Parts: sequence; C-alpha cells; structure tokens
Amino acid sequence: MTARTGAIRPRPRRELRRSRRRRRHSCWDHLIAAPLWPLHGANLGTLLRTCDAVGACLAVPRFRWVPEALEKGNTLRHPSCVHWVNDPLGWLARQREDGTRVVGVELADEAVRLADLPPARQRTVAVLGHEQYGIPPDALDLLDQAVEIPMVGTGHSLNVAVAGSLVLYKLAGLL
Ligand SMILES: C[S@@+](CC[C@H](N)C(=O)[O-])C[C@H]1O[C@@H](n2cnc3c(N)ncnc32)[C@H](O)[C@@H]1O
Repeated sequence: MTARTGAIRPRPRRELRRSRRRRRHSCWDHLIAAPLWPLHGANLGTLLRTCDAVGACLAVPRFRWVPEALEKGNTLRHPSCVHWVNDPLGWLARQREDGTRVVGVELADEAVRLADLPPARQRTVAVLGHEQYGIPPDALDLLDQAVEIPMVGTGHSLNVAVAGSLVLYKLAGLL
C-alpha cells in the first residue's frame, strides 16, 4: 500500500470549471443514451447530466411531459444534446440500418457482463428499459447486444438512471 503524503482535499470549483468545456457542445453523435419508454422524469434529468459528463446525447420520446422533466432535471449551465424520437421502434430500426450498434441495457440471459463491455468504437445507442417493464419485447429483437450489470444484493434491479450511467461510462471508455 502506498503511504499518503498529505491530506486529501476536493478540487476547488474554479479549478474544475477550468478543466471543463466553456460552451454548450453541439451533437456528439457517437454515443446516445436512449430511455425510450420513460416513466419518471427525475431519471431523465439524471441521465442528461451523465450524458454531459461522458460526451453523449440523450434520445427521448416526444411525450408531453418530457420537455418539462428535462428542463427541471437539467441543473447544468448549458443544455445537453437531446434527440426527439417520434416512433421508438422505427427509430431503433433506422439506427441499425444506418450502421449504428444498438446495445440494450437489460437483465437478460444473453447479456454480457458490464466488465466485459468494450468502449464504443463505432456510433452506439444504449437502450434503457421502462422502470417497471424493462425493454419491450419488440425492441429486444432490434438489439445487437445486451449488457447486464451484476448484482449481489436482494434488489431485483438497479434504478434505470444508475444502470444507464454505469454503461455510458463504460462505453465512453472513462472507467
Ligand atoms: C427497474 S429496471 C426494470 C425492471 C425489470 N426489467 C423487471 O421486469 O422487473 C429498469 C431498467 O433499468 C435497467 N437496469 C436496471 N438494473 C439493471 C441491471 N442490473 N443490468 C442491466 N440493466 C439494468 C434496464 O434498462 C431496465 O429495463
């Protein structure tokens, strides 16, 4: 074990700000988080912050309540890149046709474990499921691959924004 030489102090906000982007970025278009069947607005706000942190876009359905949920959840100074989706299944099918890799974040027998998921080397969409029902069966058929985050506790699953954030960090190559 390496001995510590001094006290650990959080980096000051001013220093952190200097190491971040100054302006809003346009579309990153390499990595896209896609909670296409959301139930709770708070999860969209959390995912939007993770998207900003890892350099990803967020794809959300055009439900009436979604713009307000994003507005509320966005505690960043600049809005992040949001793609509006009218027809989730059609949108996913088009992503695949265009050569994008579609990765489902889901508890599934065929899934790879998070530790074995390589960083995204091509344009990648990470599909997230409904908070109660998961990814709908029709959409499971459109996935190239599924990834599961191992769990050892008593809970059945993770919060969708937590699961999405872990996978986004792995796909972005930041973990
Ligand atoms: C609360 S879970 C859905 C519950 C579960 N599918 C069911 O049928 O009860 C919501 C979403 O979070 C993601 N998720 C939660 N825990 C996960 C895990 N351990 N591994 C991968 N994805 C997970 C998936 O996208 C899932 O569809």
